[in-house]
Amino acid sequence: LKLCRFPLESVRGVPLMRPIAENFDSIWEFNPHPLDLLIATYPKAGTTWTQEIVDLLLHNGNAELCKRAPTPVRSPFLEIVSPKPIPSGLDLLNKMDPPRMIKTHLPIQLVPPGFWENKCKVIYVARNAKDNLVSYFHFDRMNQTQPEPGPWDGYISKFMRGELAWGSWYDHVRGYWLQREQKNILYLFYEDMKEDPRREVERIMRYLDLSLSDDIISRIVALTSFKNMKENPMSNYSCIPTHVFNQSISEFMRKGEVGDWRTHFTPDQSNTFEEDYKNQMKDVDIPFRDSV
Ligand code: PPS
Repeated sequence: LKLCRFPLESVRGVPLMRPIAENFDSIWEFNPHPLDLLIATYPKAGTTWTQEIVDLLLHNGNAELCKRAPTPVRSPFLEIVSPKPIPSGLDLLNKMDPPRMIKTHLPIQLVPPGFWENKCKVIYVARNAKDNLVSYFHFDRMNQTQPEPGPWDGYISKFMRGELAWGSWYDHVRGYWLQREQKNILYLFYEDMKEDPRREVERIMRYLDLSLSDDIISRIVALTSFKNMKENPMSNYSCIPTHVFNQSISEFMRKGEVGDWRTHFTPDQSNTFEEDYKNQMKDVDIPFRDSV
């Protein structure tokens, strides 16, 4: 597979990068173990942060153990098909023993049915639309395998129309929200994690049926601060070669804040976005905060 900014191809109406679309049958057939855990997000909603928290929880807050390998090796990205030398998700997963911590950006209807049949635990993280969009824009500038973001104004339109890789943010957050009870999905918000990381770490701990001491929880909260994760070579994606992730354009650990959309949207862009948002989200009430 040659490195390029891969074009998007539709899989059941969802635009995915071509290598993923071409490989989708084998992704769909992936059969997880009942003890495997899925961390699902729309891109840039807080995946890496949650992966680090979960890894530390599963390892009793042992920081050294959680530096055994970079994030995408400790917690493979299910659907990713990568140009060499980066291994693809399925290749990594097939060499690992369960319980595995698996990342996906697939919308719920494209998650391999084995996850539901085996009653795997699933953690979903949602981030308010405008901040999510801003973060994705900068990521698309630096990630040399994603389609070119193009100008900012046009990027907003593509986001609203669901034309970015992994499709519509609106369908994504809604899909998991509507099935969270029936499928026992832990549905988290990036803004809640920022507001009170300890509360959210404890919520994840309970969902995983773990019970760690207050000291260890405090340590996990500190180790997963934005600053610490940015400085940690095993969580800041410096493992990806610069011709793939050009972090001199924009760092993977960019700002890690709530409300950065205010430095990007003009008042006009914001109004247009909000009008469209109300329309697209009118049938569902997901308690997003800090987006208007
Ligand atoms: S990816 O590529 O989809 O896996 O990216 P993802 O990890 O979901 O999202 C990256 C954004 O999350 C921010 N981030 C954090 N924020 C707060 N605290 C911690 N510990 C943290 N770790 C990552 C990261 O900075 C990206 O957001 P932006 O707004 O671009 O800074």
